[in-house]
Amino acid sequence: MSYTKRQVKIDLWPEKETEKEKYPKNKETLKLTTPTLLLFCSISLIFLILHFPFMSREFATASFPRTCGLNFTVYVYDLPKEFNLGLLQNCRHLNIYTNMCPHVANNGLGQPLNRSGRTSWFATHQFIAEMIFHARVENHPCRTYEPNNADIFYVPFYGGLYASSVFREQNLTKRDELAVRLVDYISGQRWWKRSNGRDHFLAIGRTAWDFMRSSDDTDDFGANILMQMPRVMNMSVLTVERQPWKGDNHFGIPYPSYFHPYTSAEMVTWQDKMRRVERPNLFSFVGGPRKGLEKAAIRDELIKQCAESSHCELLKCENGGSRCHEPMTVLGMMARSRFCLQAPGDSFTRRSTFDAMLAGCIPVFFSPHTMYTQYLWYLPDDKRSYSVFMEEKNNTQIEQEPLRISESEVVQMRETVIDLIPSLTYAHPNATNYDLPDAVDIALETLAKEARDKDVMSVDESHGDPLSRDSGPALSPVRTDPRRELDG
Ligand SMILES: *[C@@H]1O[C@H](CO)[C@@H](O)[C@H](O)[C@H]1NC(C)=O
Ligand SMILES: *[C@@H]1O[C@H](CO)[C@@H](O)[C@H](O)[C@H]1NC(C)=O
Ligand SMILES: *[C@@H]1O[C@H](CO)[C@@H](O)[C@H](O)[C@H]1NC(C)=O
Ligand SMILES: *[C@@H]1O[C@H](CO)[C@@H](O)[C@H](O)[C@H]1NC(C)=O
Ligand SMILES: *[C@@H]1O[C@H](CO)[C@@H](O)[C@H](O)[C@H]1NC(C)=O
Ligand SMILES: *[C@@H]1O[C@H](CO)[C@@H](O)[C@H](O)[C@H]1NC(C)=O
Repeated sequence: MSYTKRQVKIDLWPEKETEKEKYPKNKETLKLTTPTLLLFCSISLIFLILHFPFMSREFATASFPRTCGLNFTVYVYDLPKEFNLGLLQNCRHLNIYTNMCPHVANNGLGQPLNRSGRTSWFATHQFIAEMIFHARVENHPCRTYEPNNADIFYVPFYGGLYASSVFREQNLTKRDELAVRLVDYISGQRWWKRSNGRDHFLAIGRTAWDFMRSSDDTDDFGANILMQMPRVMNMSVLTVERQPWKGDNHFGIPYPSYFHPYTSAEMVTWQDKMRRVERPNLFSFVGGPRKGLEKAAIRDELIKQCAESSHCELLKCENGGSRCHEPMTVLGMMARSRFCLQAPGDSFTRRSTFDAMLAGCIPVFFSPHTMYTQYLWYLPDDKRSYSVFMEEKNNTQIEQEPLRISESEVVQMRETVIDLIPSLTYAHPNATNYDLPDAVDIALETLAKEARDKDVMSVDESHGDPLSRDSGPALSPVRTDPRRELDG
């Protein structure tokens, strides 16, 4: 999504120094007891002057580090900065359409929606999951600094930010350069060799299509070859959109939405609010038309039918920006609706699906690849318990489908959606009083479990998910398309 000028203007970059001081400096400050604190202060006058006011404040808010209640350990590679944080120095050019500087702030959460006081709401960019994931794992209680003990190895490469910064690079060698260097670097590490990278993983905030340039099509817009490199195919790649047919080692992770709670209580309060909120609209659609994209033809039909229906609220996104990119406008509309239509756009998945579920709105899908074949770690097996699926046929009367579902079923489905919110959410990376498993917890736990199973099974090629074998007639691959940036 590209934020319009209007939104960018209200965002201030960089973060004000004073705001940073509200959060714990690091874990060490929290561990200090009062006697050691006094000792420490007497040793270092400079430290006292710089930090004491904030530390006393820290103790007043009495928050405690999360403890590792899960049975695994994750090791985080300390990569050369060019592969992650170093890229941010050039934030203005990390995306050929959007100035990413406001979006990479706050560990990728972006600009806070409320500037007064601590907030858990941010104008988070749709393709920034890799940064939030990184910050969450770095602060994770199950992180180990001892690779020897690690179940899984996280390679914090900001591959999505890199890819979008070189979309227009014509020289393919140059376009692939950093990704190739990353793979050379990591496969040269001692711990890689333990299982040829099978216990290593990447977390990428853009879709797999952006890393699967077809070798026979040199015109393929933008894509690099990261996910086609044999060594990467030995790793697990977490991505917001996996390649449903070839992506045996791809695992879908949620797009980040706008809510990044600091405490479990905030999450529970929000869920309660979404249970009680009044929903006068039967359904709603947020999105723009896609001219000439066969796969997205359903969009034009949705927009038409929604505009004509008295039961539907429409927020049309068009070039040049609209209220489509105002987080609270979008969420407010979804919170007024019982069903939220999720038509494929430039690719199968949409950030909007996660916004809708955060607002307790039951998603309606037109392709199985918008959700069902993507986020297997996060969803109940029974698709109908939380969503509606409509065949993409001509003359479909979209309104008829949700109307067929009884009121009590709607309530039940909504309850399931609201129960899923915590696991689809990226908690605040510095959250302390937060004990609900979030998107990152679930990913790490599942990966660790798979890594152990692989260990036990040795190298049995039958790993992977059954859905990827459900090939069917392969649709033409989704090209990376500039329009993908237009809406979520
Ligand atoms: C989390 O805390 C660290 C250390 O104090 C700080 O640098 C970082 O900006 C904080 N993250 C957010 C999102 O506030
Ligand atoms: C934790 O994992 C180890 C293997 O790494 C296993 O032996 C142990 O039983 C597990 N404990 C629990 C409580 O799951
Ligand atoms: C912003 O935060 C302040 C202080 O916490 C609060 O009083 C105010 O209601 C918040 N505004 C919005 C729009 O949430
Ligand atoms: C592409 O870039 C590489 C590496 O910088 C360079 O060696 C090569 O000559 C370039 N190729 C073309 C056709 O410019
Ligand atoms: C991938 O892993 C398998 C099994 O460990 C190994 O035989 C193979 O050489 C690895 N491939 C690469 C490219 O490292
Ligand atoms: C669906 O509609 C399009 C355009 O309205 C038409 O070209 C196509 O033949 C129709 N397909 C079927 C199966 O009716």
